[in-house]
Amino acid sequence: MALENLILEQAEGIATIFINRPEKLNALNKVTIQELHDTLQLVENNPEIRVIILTGSGQKAFVAGADIAEFAYFSAEEGAALASEGQRILFDFIENLKTPVIAAINGFALGGGLELAMACHFKIASDNAKMGLPETSLGVIPGYGGTQRLSQLVGKGRAMEMILTAGMIDAETAKNYGLVNHVVPQVDLVATYTTLAHKIMKNSPVAIGKAIEAVNANFKTDVNGFDVEIRNFGSCFATEDFKEGTTAFLEKRKANFK
Ligand code: COA
Repeated sequence: MALENLILEQAEGIATIFINRPEKLNALNKVTIQELHDTLQLVENNPEIRVIILTGSGQKAFVAGADIAEFAYFSAEEGAALASEGQRILFDFIENLKTPVIAAINGFALGGGLELAMACHFKIASDNAKMGLPETSLGVIPGYGGTQRLSQLVGKGRAMEMILTAGMIDAETAKNYGLVNHVVPQVDLVATYTTLAHKIMKNSPVAIGKAIEAVNANFKTDVNGFDVEIRNFGSCFATEDFKEGTTAFLEKRKANFK
């Protein structure tokens, strides 16, 4: 698949997707959003890939937002369609993938960039990262799930402050807020996500997919998360991974999940 705005690297079970428009601080235009959807679908369907890393090209930005130049002259209807289509093909899509997606925030994560990171299963950041939802400074509100996911992650008061002031927070503050799990020097970002990916890859991919679905169920209004947990817990018992995991434990050896 020829990619205009992304770089895809695949090695040792890890797919790393670089958003690659450094001259525009990796801003998300329509082409990039579609390429992200197609690439994520491709790697999700590849059984060799056990962890996906999403990061930005260059030293300066993860993603500095949706591409403002692309939507500046949209009508109300076009604006609503942009948000709804984007949520469907990218933001909700990522959140519901069965393969874990880690956002490695390597610089500015603003607007749609922070929304993209927040849709990932968890986030780490380099110490130069700056995060914010500056949309109200442009006369609009976050449209790719930002009002919902930021409130879920940092609580209503902090989300309100970030959105209403349109300000940026630094990586340490983001960690204190619970927005990112780890902050490391920029030179250590790759090593940090590689270590995390290897820890994840030791575990059952089937159980990981079911765990993601169960945790996500807590944030959905149309399902009962406890019911999803019971169903997914039960269905694990019928899998080869469960047989291998429990047998390996009883035989005092490391599990070898296929
Ligand atoms: N959409 C489109 N283009 C963007 C962009 C975005 N969200 N963010 C940055 N760019 C472009 C700039 O227009 C500039 O392009 P140019 O060289 O053709 O003029 C290039 O990326 C570099 O950005 P610049 O503003 O010169 O870098 P900076 O270091 O001075 O400032 C930021 C960095 C992140 C503070 C600034 O780019 C910014 O505020 N970006 C917009 C953030 C935002 O509001 N995002 C939410 C969008 S909904």
